[in-house]
Amino acid sequence: MVLSPQDKANVKAVWEHVKGHEEVYGAEALYRAFLCDPQTQTYFAGKDLSENSAFLHSHGKKVMCALTNAIAHIDDIDGCMSKLSDKHAHELMVDPGNFDILAHHILTVLAMFLSQLLTCANHRSVDKFLSCVKNVLTSKYR
Ligand code: HEM
Repeated sequence: MVLSPQDKANVKAVWEHVKGHEEVYGAEALYRAFLCDPQTQTYFAGKDLSENSAFLHSHGKKVMCALTNAIAHIDDIDGCMSKLSDKHAHELMVDPGNFDILAHHILTVLAMFLSQLLTCANHRSVDKFLSCVKNVLTSKYR
C-alpha cells in the first residue's frame, strides 16, 4: 500500500482535528472493538475493559498517540513504528485480522466525531494509512 502525496495531505488534515483528543477517540474505538468483536478482548486478560475504565482510556490514548506520531513521520512509518512492530509480533502475537477490526472502529469513531471532514476522499486516505500501519505492525511475524 503506497500513500500518494494527496493521501498524506488528507490524513494530516483529518488528524489535525484528532490531535489533543487521542484519549477520547481511542477509548471509544477500543470500546467498540471489544463490544462488537469480543475476540479482541482475549489479548487483554485481567484488564478492566468497561466503558469508563482507566485502562481503556490510557490504552486508547497510547494507540491513538502512536498514530499521531506515525502521521508526523508519514514518510517513515516503518522506522517510527519499528519498536511497536516488534512488540505486537514477538511479545503480544496479535493475530493480524485484529488490525482490520481496530481500523474499522477507528474509522467509525472519526465518522462519528468528524462527520463533515470524513469525505469519501479523506475516508479512503485514512483507510489506506491504517492499512500501512497494519502492514508495519504485522511485518515481523515469523
Ligand atoms: C500495546 C499501538 C493494534 C493489542 C500497544 C501500545 C501501543 C499500541 C502504542 C503500547 C506499547 C507499550 O506500552 O510499549 C497499537 C496501534 C495499533 C494496535 C497503533 C493499530 C492501529 C492492536 C490490536 C491489538 C493490540 C489490533 C489486539 C486486538 C495490544 C496489547 C497491548 C498493546 C494487548 C499491551 C497492552 C497492555 O498490557 O498494556 N499497542 N496497537 N494492539 N497492543 Fe496494540
